Order: sequence, then C-alpha cells, then structure tokens
Amino acid sequence: MPTERAASRTAVLVCQGRAVGDGRLAVGSFSDPVAMELLREDERAVVAAVRAAAVPAAWRERIAYESVAACAAVVVPRTVAIDAAIRAHAHPQLVILGAGLDARAWRMAELADVDVTEIDHPASQRDKQGRLGARPSLARTHRFQSADLAVSSLGDALESAGHDADSPTTWIWEGVVPYLRRADVERTLVAVAERSARGSTLIVSYQTRSLRARAGRLLARHVGEPWHTLLSPGAMAHLLTDAGFGVQTDEDLLTVAERIGTPTAHATSLRNGRIAVAARH
Ligand SMILES: C[S@@+](CC[C@H](N)C(=O)[O-])C[C@H]1O[C@@H](n2cnc3c(N)ncnc32)[C@H](O)[C@@H]1O
Repeated sequence: MPTERAASRTAVLVCQGRAVGDGRLAVGSFSDPVAMELLREDERAVVAAVRAAAVPAAWRERIAYESVAACAAVVVPRTVAIDAAIRAHAHPQLVILGAGLDARAWRMAELADVDVTEIDHPASQRDKQGRLGARPSLARTHRFQSADLAVSSLGDALESAGHDADSPTTWIWEGVVPYLRRADVERTLVAVAERSARGSTLIVSYQTRSLRARAGRLLARHVGEPWHTLLSPGAMAHLLTDAGFGVQTDEDLLTVAERIGTPTAHATSLRNGRIAVAARH
C-alpha cells in the first residue's frame, strides 16, 4: 500500500524552475509553457520575481528567490537532456517514476502515439490532478497510478495500470533517486528491468556526492524530503548493469548547460547532477 504523506514540495520547486526558464532560458531547446499554469498564485509570485530579476530585500523572500533561481539553472538543462533522450528513444510506452508536476504529457506532441503512465505518491498525484483540472493529456492514453517506491510493488502497480511488459518502454526517473534509500533504488531498478522488453530505454537523473554541493541537500532537508542516495557514475553504471541495462550515455548537467548556453553560475550543482541513458539487453 502506498504511504500517505503530504504532496511533494520539491516537485513544486522544480516546476517553478521550469516556469522560470520557459521562454527565457535555452529558447529553442527548452520549453515548458504548462509549468506556470500548474503553479498556484503564491508559487507564481517568486517565479515572476526571478523572471524579472527583481531581487527581494527581505531575507525570507530572498531565500525563496535564490532557491528558485538555482533550481531553474539545474532543471532547464536536465529537462533538455531528458526530452532529447525521449525523442531519440521513442517507444510505444512511457512510464514516469516519481512524476511530480512533470508536464511532458501535456506539452510534448511527440507523445500522441504513446501510452503514458505516471507513478507517484497518492498525495502528490491528487495535488497534480487538482492543478491540471480538465486539461487533456496529449498522449494516446494516460494513466495515473499511485505507488510508493519504498513500500509498494512497482510491478503490481504497473500491471494494474495496464502496462505491457512485452512491449518496449521509455522510463523517466527524474529527480527521484536521491530521495530513495539505496535498497529502494535497487528494488525499483529490478522492477523496471523485469517490465522492460528488450530495447527499452531507462533515462535516470541522479546526484553525485560532493562536499561543496550542499545547497540542494540542505534545501531538500528543509522542505522535509531529505536526500538518501548519492551515487558516483561508476556506482550507477554497476547498478544499471546488474539490472540488465547497458549504459549508452552518462553526462553531467554542466556539460549540458554549456552546450545549450544556460547559466553556469551554479557550476558545482550542475557538475553533480547527471543523466544516464541505458538500454535493456
Ligand atoms: C524533486 S520531485 C521530482 C518530480 C519530477 N520527476 C520532476 O523532475 O519534475 C521528486 C518526486 O519524487 C516523488 N517521490 C519521492 N519519493 C517517492 C517514493 N518513495 N515513491 C514514489 N514517489 C516518490 C515525489 O512525490 C516527487 O514527485
């Protein structure tokens, strides 16, 4: 059974980051016009301030401002890299693990022939559905399936959602690994592998350990969603290989940011964020 908890606040933060970036950062490579619409009025105010570079004087507002600005710098290259991987590895099914306020199914016309399933905690899914209102998904079919990756059987959840384990799947596991304990990361990978037909693609973002990159860790703890699992590229490659995936690419977000021309002032955070793309043997 999924555990009951409040809707994810980090999901809102990364959505705010995408709303900051839309039409401002990496124009032509990055776009998420739905992000702003998913935010509530109070959550939009800080986004508007960052977009206008209106740095607040009061310290509390300043902290919120800096958090959202830093998040935009990281999340825009992350989104661009993942969107590119989705386009490069198109499969008939897309499963988004820990989907939060991911708006791909509402903004990517490329998903018109794809069956999309979003997995998340029940509270986060209810929250998202409330924010979406009647906005239709662009996907061929779209399912919300609640599951707690630390407790539930992901395999059972996907079976209930109608996922077809015999047909290739693109998996997005974005911004979730740090929040899971190592054993749950391994368990999730096994479940993903078991439901991945040959040729399926797993796109996973993860964080490497760094003494200097404390900002993200402190912020996550502050909102009650502490990081548990940080992995080196070698450790991630081992996990993927053991689960039956072959790593195709694994790059840090600083490299992506430099390629697409987004701000690199948060170089340490960018260097410690990575995206691996792996194929099921
Ligand atoms: C930082 S947010 C990222 C959301 C989204 N993937 C994105 O990048 O915009 C982390 C997400 O992971 C989800 N999450 C964290 N722990 C989880 C768990 N044990 N089971 C299911 N979802 C979880 C949260 O509910 C939240 O939606």
